[in-house]
Amino acid sequence: MILKTLLVVSCLTVAVQCITQSELNKIDEALQPLVSSRKSAPVLVRLAFHDCVGGCDGCINVNNPDNAGLKPIIQDLEAIYKSNGLKFVLSRADFWAYAGQAALRQTVDWTKGVEQSELKISFQTGRVDCPTSPYTKADVELPSSNLNYEQLIEFYDTRFGMTDEQAVALMGAHTLGYAHRQNSGFSGMWVPKEESFQFNNNYYKYMQELPWWQRNAGNNTDPRWQWQATVMGTQSASRLVGDLGKPTRRPIRAPKPEYLMSLNADFCMLMDLKLNKDGFSSCNIGNCGFSDGANLVKKYAESQSLWLEKFSEAFTIMQSNGGTVKLWPVKPV
Ligand code: HEM
Repeated sequence: MILKTLLVVSCLTVAVQCITQSELNKIDEALQPLVSSRKSAPVLVRLAFHDCVGGCDGCINVNNPDNAGLKPIIQDLEAIYKSNGLKFVLSRADFWAYAGQAALRQTVDWTKGVEQSELKISFQTGRVDCPTSPYTKADVELPSSNLNYEQLIEFYDTRFGMTDEQAVALMGAHTLGYAHRQNSGFSGMWVPKEESFQFNNNYYKYMQELPWWQRNAGNNTDPRWQWQATVMGTQSASRLVGDLGKPTRRPIRAPKPEYLMSLNADFCMLMDLKLNKDGFSSCNIGNCGFSDGANLVKKYAESQSLWLEKFSEAFTIMQSNGGTVKLWPVKPV
C-alpha cells in the first residue's frame, strides 16, 4: 500500500515521465501524416540523431549548415505538439525521440522480410528540453562527412560510448532517404530509390559489392567529394552480396541505371580512405585496402537480423544520450 502511494506520488511529481500507452496511441495518430510520408520518415530519423548529438534536448540550431533541411520537419512537429497540447504529456525531446522511432517502425512496415519484433527499441520518457526548445543558437559540433574509420569510431565512442559494432550498425540508418544538394551539397541516395524508404541491410550490400568511384558533387571552390556507383534498374541488393576481397561484379546491362552515393563517413567503414582536407581520397577501391570496419560491413551485409539487433542497441544508446538521461518506461494504460 505504501509502495503504491509512493509510486502514485512519484508519477504526479514527475508527470511528464509517466506516459501511458493510450497517450502514446493518440500521439501515433497525430504523427501518422508525417510518419507515413516516404519523404518525411527518413528526415524524422535524421532529426532524432542530430538532436541527440546535441544532448537529446529537443533543440536544434537551424542556422548551423549541418542541420540544413531540418527546419520544415521541426515546424511540422511543432504544429502537432502545440495543437494536441502535448507539452502537458511529454517534452519535445521525448516527442522527437518518439517520432524517430515511429518513423523507423513505419519503414519496417514498408519492408518485406523484416519484422517489427526485430527492431528492439522501446520508448522511454524523461529527456529534458533546453530552455529555448525547439530552437537554439548554441552550436553543437556535428560529425563531418569526411571522416576516416578511426575518426568515425572516435566520434561515436566519445559522444555516446558506443562500441565499433554499434557505431557501424547505426550508420546503416543511411539506407533511408537522400542527400540533397540544397542541404548538404552532397547528392543522391545510398540505395536505389525504390529501396530508400525500406529498413533493411541493403546499404551494406551495395557498399560492399559495387565498383565505387569518387565524384565531386560540389565545385572546385566548395568541393563535396562523395563515392558514386551505378546500379541497374533490374538489379537488387539481394543478388549482389559478394565476398570481401573478391573482384566486384560489373552491373549487367539493363535499362534505367541509377547512381548511388556514399559519403566518406560511410565508405570509410569498408575502405581505408586517405582523405585530404577537401575530402578527396588519394586512394580508391583498387588500392586503399580494407579498413578495420570492413568485417563488420560484411557481417551486416550477410545478416539482417544481426544488423537489426546491433542497430537497435545503438539507437537506444543514442536516444539516452549515451546512457546519461534517466528514462522511464511507458505505463501500460
Ligand atoms: C558520421 C555520422 C553521420 C554523418 C557525417 C551524416 C551525414 C549526413 C548527410 C550529409 C546527410 C544528407 C543531408 C541532406 O543533404 O539532406 C545525411 C542524411 C541522413 N542521415 Fe546522416 N549522417 C551521420 C549519421 C547518421 C545517423 C547516426 C543517423 C540516424 C541514426 C542518420 C540518419 C540520416 C538519414 C535518415 C538521412 C536522410 C535524410 C533525408 O532523406 O532527408 N545519419 N546524413
